Amino acid sequence: MTPILQHQENARYTITLNRVERKNALTQAMYMELLQALEHARVDNSIRVLVLQGHEHIFTAGNDIEDFLAHPPLEPQAPVFRFLQALSSFPKPVVASVCGPAVGIGASLLLHCDLVVAGDNAAFSLPFVNLGLTPEAASSLLLPQLMGYHRACEALLLGEPFMAEAALEVGFVNKVVVPAEANQAAQVWAQRLEAKPLNALIQTKALLKSESSAACGERMAREGAVFAQLLGEGAAKEAFAAFIEKRRPDFSGL
Ligand code: COA
Repeated sequence: MTPILQHQENARYTITLNRVERKNALTQAMYMELLQALEHARVDNSIRVLVLQGHEHIFTAGNDIEDFLAHPPLEPQAPVFRFLQALSSFPKPVVASVCGPAVGIGASLLLHCDLVVAGDNAAFSLPFVNLGLTPEAASSLLLPQLMGYHRACEALLLGEPFMAEAALEVGFVNKVVVPAEANQAAQVWAQRLEAKPLNALIQTKALLKSESSAACGERMAREGAVFAQLLGEGAAKEAFAAFIEKRRPDFSGL
């Protein structure tokens, strides 16, 4: 099965995460495909809006842990970081549709989408600390700005999932619908956007992001350096070993 589906209808370019049997966990190869899709959608003038979606029961379980361990993202040029930079600086509107679990990067990438519709089964989690790691995608900057410091600490220090309604309350998503309608709701927004003048959309998005874009780039670089350092330490090793051995991690002494 193709893990990333791409489809253009009128001026809407839809990317579907499609590795359902592994909960849409993202591999290096998938990040490269996503990167190429973003590049294509950025330069192709027939595309005005990007839609990013998963399936009714799963958005993504985040990094594919086995692939991640085989190819740890230690350099800024790692596919995951290149993908995040490309999404964060994508000039046209991005609409996301999220149902089911959105783990790690599956949640943090939404901070770089412009409109987010969630199924009422969506569960967002940023469990980086639980993996002995630190946040990415500038979520350490954007999350407290969006939801306030204390709520960001629940998400990033406790690593606790928050559900669709809570995400709506803090402005993490725009609306909540039944899961079967989420992808269609994203298309409806995308249809409204594709009917608007492209340059006005691009300039408006650039203005909306003018304060945050440089700061995001800097924060992602800083996060990446700390993340790479922690990946080599005992807590991350224990967390990943526990995942593979299907047991709870033991962080005593770490
Ligand atoms: N990397 C690799 N494989 C993964 C994965 C990931 N991030 N997430 C799930 N899988 C695999 C599981 O190991 C399982 O494989 P198996 O059938 O060979 O045992 C399969 O996908 C189904 O996952 P399962 O956990 O049984 O599904 P679920 O519906 O009970 O739970 C999640 C879904 C997403 C909540 C759960 O899989 C999960 O928490 N995954 C890990 C998320 C994570 O820590 N991501 C890392 C972020 S850096």
